Amino acid sequence: MFINREAELEWVREYARRSHATPFVIYGPEGCGKTALALEAVRRFSSWYAGGIALYIDGKARRAAEAVKSNVNIGDVLAEVGGLTGSVGMSAARLAVWLLGKIVEKIAERFAPMNILVVVDELFSAVGVGEGALAVKYAQELGDRVLRSKKAELGEIPKPLAEASVSYLIFSSEGSSRRELSRHNWAHVALMWNMGERGFQQLGEALGAPDFSAAWRLCGGNPRCLFQLAELDWDAEKFLTLIASSRRIGWVVAEVARRGFADVLREAVENPDVLAEPRGLELARFLENRNFVIELSPIVIGQAPRPDDELGVGRRYAWQTPALRDAVKMALEGRV
Ligand SMILES: Nc1ncnc2c1ncn2[C@@H]1O[C@H](COP(=O)(O)OP(=O)(O)OP(=O)(O)O)[C@@H](O)[C@H]1O
Ligand SMILES: [Mg+2]
Repeated sequence: MFINREAELEWVREYARRSHATPFVIYGPEGCGKTALALEAVRRFSSWYAGGIALYIDGKARRAAEAVKSNVNIGDVLAEVGGLTGSVGMSAARLAVWLLGKIVEKIAERFAPMNILVVVDELFSAVGVGEGALAVKYAQELGDRVLRSKKAELGEIPKPLAEASVSYLIFSSEGSSRRELSRHNWAHVALMWNMGERGFQQLGEALGAPDFSAAWRLCGGNPRCLFQLAELDWDAEKFLTLIASSRRIGWVVAEVARRGFADVLREAVENPDVLAEPRGLELARFLENRNFVIELSPIVIGQAPRPDDELGVGRRYAWQTPALRDAVKMALEGRV
């Protein structure tokens, strides 16, 4: 089941139209639907670009067979490139990332596609920001080098390689990745936000939500939040108690107080933009590292977040879901 997200899919489709010297890293709240979007783009790729090839690399994969997905059967390419179909000593994703350049080269030769889209999901969880940058740069440069050496060899660029456009897209849910990436110039960074009201309502209907506005008020368009709420038979109170416990909200609030930021936190539950002010900077980093809040970006793929006090969405910062903000508020008031 995949619902809505037409604007985001359109962004990916346009992105894949031509090669990009600088890849995009897409970051967004946990569970906002990044992986679902990436997989749907791979499924639709052949209908977008006849003969096009999309590759999805799962940074979390531990088994080689699960690390790479594609809209076409590339099993023998993977086997030829690096035994990716067998068992691997290092993390499957790490290997796949390092073999990207080779995989893309072989695909271009074998299938002669016009468009290749490579999506790496959770790149930074797999290899960290520094190594991730190196791997993507290496893949891109390998592509360039292959082109140049073929040109020298043959006096011209072989058709399949010359015509193929290759675009890399990287998805990340590490709260800190945006800050980390801002130190580098190898990638552009764009935000993907939670679902808009209409798409979220469709998802709610598909899951049998009895009260859409209550779900919206709690999840603010976050699909994972909605799935979790459904699992609890739409019991909002039980959901908040579970979040408070699994996200260690009591500890978080106590630690914030120990560091002397209790007052700023109290302000931030009402207005997250205080985190962009000088007195909020340290707290912002603390909450961001724990994926409680997220720094927004004016560069957004698809639907942009709309500032909304009730949902905890500001102009510069937002709570990843209203439920997280509510749980923090409850802890501040001594209710959990
Ligand atoms: N457009 C959609 N239609 C239907 N289900 C969706 C959609 N988007 C997300 N989901 C579902 O919501 C849940 C969370 O989505 P997903 O795993 O894609 O989020 P994510 O942003 O990749 O999360 P993380 O930050 O943890 O990697 C999954 O169960 C997914 O199947
Ligand atoms: Mg994901």
